[in-house]
Amino acid sequence: MKSKTFTFPFISLLLLLFVVLSVARSYDFFYFVQQWPGSHCDTRRGCCYPTTGINPEANFTIHGLWPNYDNGKYPHDCDYKNRYDATKIKDLLPKMQTKWPTLECPSADGSKLWAHEWNRYGTCSESILDQHSYFRAGLDLQNKANILSILEDANIRPNGELYSTKHITEVIKEALGVLPSIECNRDASRNPQLFQIYLCVDKLGKDFIDCPFYKKRKCSPEIEFPKF
Ligand SMILES: *[C@@H]1O[C@H](CO)[C@@H](O)[C@H](O)[C@H]1NC(C)=O
Repeated sequence: MKSKTFTFPFISLLLLLFVVLSVARSYDFFYFVQQWPGSHCDTRRGCCYPTTGINPEANFTIHGLWPNYDNGKYPHDCDYKNRYDATKIKDLLPKMQTKWPTLECPSADGSKLWAHEWNRYGTCSESILDQHSYFRAGLDLQNKANILSILEDANIRPNGELYSTKHITEVIKEALGVLPSIECNRDASRNPQLFQIYLCVDKLGKDFIDCPFYKKRKCSPEIEFPKF
């Protein structure tokens, strides 16, 4: 009799702990990160074109969709049982090859990048987005943002010239209504250049939102926008 009356509160406590932990494991928003392929390729390390023979477009490509907490931390590697499975996104693969390619060396077909993105980041948002919805969300967001045409409409072109980082930021903010964060890298002559663009996205992976915070990223006031 005695043991029974103790068992119930104990189990409830365990249940409560479980609920609290799984809620804590969720996330608050995404970073959606796009990359300029020209700035990957003209570095000292260079780049390698995909083995598929399908070359990336002269366009911003997707790097990732990364869940984040409002407190500056981020979850990763949330489910070791739910691994990347190409058969779940078969219909998206042709699009992913042009919009979400890898330029890392040695040449690869992209699946290593996609597996990394899903296993490390995607698994942390699977309560809301399954594998197919996750990659789909990335493709849809890129389509929605269309950074290249936003910049070109403001006469900011990938022609190897220098542009004001502040101006680039403002032009994107004007077009999308939210403040982006620009990440630079250096070309082979060590000149700073436009490398990646961070935008914040709501939990559903649907709409751009004002970022709760941005990490400080080093960029010069004037940066190159290299050709690709
Ligand atoms: C660049 O990508 C965007 C988004 O996918 C697309 O809408 C646009 O047509 C592309 N532009 C070029 C020049 O390929």
